Amino acid sequence: MAAGARDSGAELGKAHTRVEGPDKVTGRALYSSDRTGPEAGTAHAALVTSPIARGRITGFDLAAAARMPGVLGLFTHRDFSGAVAPVKHLMAGGYANSTHRPLESDAVAYAGQIVALVVAETLEVAEAAAGAVRVTYAEEPAAGGFDAPGAETVRLADLKPHHADIARGDAEAGLAEAAVRVEARYETPVQHHNPIELFTTRAAWDGDRLTVHEPTRYVGAVQHGLAAQLGLDPAQVRVVAGLIGGHFGSKFALSQHTALVALAAKRLDRPVSLVPTRRQGFTIANYRPESRHRIRLGADRSGRFTALVHEAETVTSRFDPFVMEGAEVTASLYACPNIRTKERAVRVDRNTPGPMRAPPEVPFLFALESAVDEMAVALAMDPIELRRRNDTAVDPVSGKAFSTRPLMACFDAGAQAFGWSRRVPRPGSMRDGPWRVGLGCATSVRPVKIAAATLRVRLGPDGAAEVACAHHEIGNGITTLLAMGAADGLGVAVERVTVRLGDTDLPAAGISGGSSTTTSLMNALALGCGQIRAVLAQAATGQGGRLAGRDPDTLHLGGGRLAAPDGTGIALAEAVGPGGVETLAAFVPAGGDRDTALAALRQGHIGLSLGGGGQAVSWGFGAQFAEVHVHAETGEIRVARLTGAFAAGRILNPLTARSQLTGGMIWGLGSALLEETVVDGAAYRNPDLAEYLVPTAADAPEVEALLVDDPDDQVDALGLKGLGELGIIGVNAAIANAVHHATGRRIRRLPIRLEDVA
Ligand code: MOS
Repeated sequence: MAAGARDSGAELGKAHTRVEGPDKVTGRALYSSDRTGPEAGTAHAALVTSPIARGRITGFDLAAAARMPGVLGLFTHRDFSGAVAPVKHLMAGGYANSTHRPLESDAVAYAGQIVALVVAETLEVAEAAAGAVRVTYAEEPAAGGFDAPGAETVRLADLKPHHADIARGDAEAGLAEAAVRVEARYETPVQHHNPIELFTTRAAWDGDRLTVHEPTRYVGAVQHGLAAQLGLDPAQVRVVAGLIGGHFGSKFALSQHTALVALAAKRLDRPVSLVPTRRQGFTIANYRPESRHRIRLGADRSGRFTALVHEAETVTSRFDPFVMEGAEVTASLYACPNIRTKERAVRVDRNTPGPMRAPPEVPFLFALESAVDEMAVALAMDPIELRRRNDTAVDPVSGKAFSTRPLMACFDAGAQAFGWSRRVPRPGSMRDGPWRVGLGCATSVRPVKIAAATLRVRLGPDGAAEVACAHHEIGNGITTLLAMGAADGLGVAVERVTVRLGDTDLPAAGISGGSSTTTSLMNALALGCGQIRAVLAQAATGQGGRLAGRDPDTLHLGGGRLAAPDGTGIALAEAVGPGGVETLAAFVPAGGDRDTALAALRQGHIGLSLGGGGQAVSWGFGAQFAEVHVHAETGEIRVARLTGAFAAGRILNPLTARSQLTGGMIWGLGSALLEETVVDGAAYRNPDLAEYLVPTAADAPEVEALLVDDPDDQVDALGLKGLGELGIIGVNAAIANAVHHATGRRIRRLPIRLEDVA
């Protein structure tokens, strides 16, 4: 830390309610699509999407729509072809969450593709007119998923040049020498995010300057991507994402519809707001692709793994490089001398998938943690004991040490709280009246990610402070953490701190993703507050200063004063002067090249890196426990309890941390028992919240999230790991393992349904 005055440190670590909470619950909080009052002159857009998955548009009949009173514009590829320049995918050095450009030509590449944009005076007229647009198509055969004729299997390295399948030792020999072997195939379904706030865009031009309000978790990528698409200077484009009503992995980077709304606004010379329907959200945004896995696991009689083979396939689109890769995590989880992975992508005629709630770990650990449970059954060993025998302080693939490895501490704390000791090992042996009772557990792990960020800190003479950064409040509580951190770092009250986020006019920061927000921004904030303290301490202790001759490092900023240890000091107003003091912090994670990282940030590239600075492997850990009740007659499955114990570095706000974790655990329940998008042909057949099932309050069990101490001085300067996604991981396997314990049935395909166990 920069020299000059100590951090007073009173707020961070305490439970604190969300500072923006009152605005949210009273309806004062503004989301992107709330900025559409008629006084703003906003016109409203609606989309027409393709019912066919592949082919060509042969004609439009726009007459009925055009006749509707209030219709302002009808746009198809005949209007917009050539108007949107291509940009690369965010994961391939570009900005887009899909490189497919709707309204570019008459080609249809997937069901639900945008084929027309209608703009009218009101949303109602726009939607009615969109419904009156008639489109004719020449349909061609489409491949909708695994094993469909025409689906193309490719090596991951063909899409992601950095990917390499893992081969360590001799997996076949390790399997041959094993005393016990498990070989099984697992499947997980398509899942869609379904945030409450839809995928909205509002575009308004002021001359050649464009302002876009869009709930995106990377305003920088939207700004730079849109500028590249429309041939503008990035300085002409401002992107604002106020509060975000959930993303869970969607609202990724530049959306396909953003440029279309901007073009319509330009042609009509009106601000245009698009609020697509929930059904359209299934195809204009990204989703978690289906996956299938083959796991082969060998162990000796004592339970030590002799070999692990994880082969996986996931679906992706025809035209994008996004792939959900995950075997590098499963390969590194347990001690094992012989490891082999093989990952493939299967390209089909669907929209491009994307990240969703711990993208790879949710499906990949479902497979591995189910297989580990199967191995425990085969060995007649307690599943926690089996994990203990294969615990490792060192990543078996890279040979690097974990910066901390409190996995078994999580299992011990969780087992204690959950009451694991009352579990009768033999499946089917616990009952509660007509219900079969099962107890299951699984591991959660998530590599720590961290990104460069710039952030401005201001401290005024009256003790008011401001933190400003082009990052985002996605509901995770980062606004609250930044206010708490600034209060500590500047010695002011939390209530005096204003936090400004979600605007490209603010200092550049990265994507809200990979559970990297806390790790990145809190390190940037600590740097900024340290810079302010150093400036004030240097000025006060320098020649002519009121504290001249004192050691600046011993000064304390707080309580309205800048004071020396003996109590002498000066008032804050005097220390900062009438104009206040302001600094720009530029945080770059250890191990990264500073100029490269900051340049990437300024250009809106993704720039996420792994925690631990390359010296150590840094992960968050957790142990998930589930108690399920399966009705002996009907097969109804109820989750009675979920207990998780998590170790994720230093916890800055136990209240919001627990909210993240318990929310994730309930998602995990959904992932195990409810969530599935049904693909029929190449179309999604249940694209709404009536038929796409998510856990409701009545489904939610008793949920407990314990926080396990995890002091880590290697992961980053503050010992932060991030835990936004840790809570969901492994819950599906814990529930499947509990279902097996209750019934003796091993269900290897999610979601688990009553017909699987009746
Ligand atoms: Mo997360 S879905 O990796 O942002």
